[in-house]
Amino acid sequence: MSFLTGAELDKVYGKAKGSGYGFIASNVAEPNILIGLMRAAEEKNSDLVLQISNSASKFAGNGDPITGLRAISQYIKELASNYEFGVFLNMDHLKESNMELIKATVDEDLASSIMIDASKESFEDNVRITRKVVDYAKGSDLLIEGELGKIKGVEDEETASAEAFYTDPDEAVEYVKKTGVDLLAVSVGTQHGVSKGRDIELNVDLVEEIDSTLTQAGLEIPLVLHGSSGLVEEQLVQVLDYGVCKLNKDTRYQYEYARAALDYYLEHKDSILPPEGVNDDREGFFSDTDWSPNKSDFDPRAVSRVIREAIKETAGDLFEQAGSVGKSLYSSKVN
Ligand code: G3H
Ligand code: ZN
Repeated sequence: MSFLTGAELDKVYGKAKGSGYGFIASNVAEPNILIGLMRAAEEKNSDLVLQISNSASKFAGNGDPITGLRAISQYIKELASNYEFGVFLNMDHLKESNMELIKATVDEDLASSIMIDASKESFEDNVRITRKVVDYAKGSDLLIEGELGKIKGVEDEETASAEAFYTDPDEAVEYVKKTGVDLLAVSVGTQHGVSKGRDIELNVDLVEEIDSTLTQAGLEIPLVLHGSSGLVEEQLVQVLDYGVCKLNKDTRYQYEYARAALDYYLEHKDSILPPEGVNDDREGFFSDTDWSPNKSDFDPRAVSRVIREAIKETAGDLFEQAGSVGKSLYSSKVN
């Protein structure tokens, strides 16, 4: 199987919503997390929803988000062609100011879906901006996710909102009708960045009300929870019954990455750092001392292997929680 488009993603979410399971939409900004996620999806026989933000695209493109997205999208497509499960890419938290990136995504088929985030704006402006993206993507094969309500916290290197504003179910109906979005991100108590499950007041009743109000209005679309990293399993599974089929996690992988790297370097400190009393002669590459660092320990691929494994384990557990395990729609393995 290979990299798939919005039409196939629509089927994947449709099946998930109808069956009460969901997908961990996992942010990537570099290859080790990406490969760890691919390995987890393979082991768990799950379809895979990846996402990349404007700032991660910019990082990959050495300052130019379109270059970065083209490179990462092609890299994902190449890797995906070696696997049997479906691989999808969502453009995460794109703003009106990222219109050039949005256009390139649509024009060059670089992703499977786009999230347009105008949630900081007034309701009218949110509708107008979201509609602009929906209209631009018309005729293409991309799903569009919009957001209504404000989620607290630090989202992808910038503080999104200092305060949370919960999504109003009736406004959600009006927003979906007026914009024509395919997925709706809602604010129901989660927050971006480091958050603890015990401090999150997840309003499951509100999720249920938003879902049932939309369904009654004939707008049965998948709901999205941003800022899901802090959710503990008991909280995460609660929302799966009420139409949430995309749960976004970024911070959790970032922490696992940092811990895996830190643990690795602490463990191999003595073969990378000279012992006390030996001159730390990096410029001369230790030519004046008997001590030498160990190449097999400082080769970046050594720490990368450990990071990939840590991400694979973490993601596999999260895919189990979301219930997408064993349910790939594109695998020949018996589900
Ligand atoms: O869009 C990305 C996610 O909402 C990130 O949430 O900070 O809880 O991982 P997180
Ligand atoms: Zn988010």
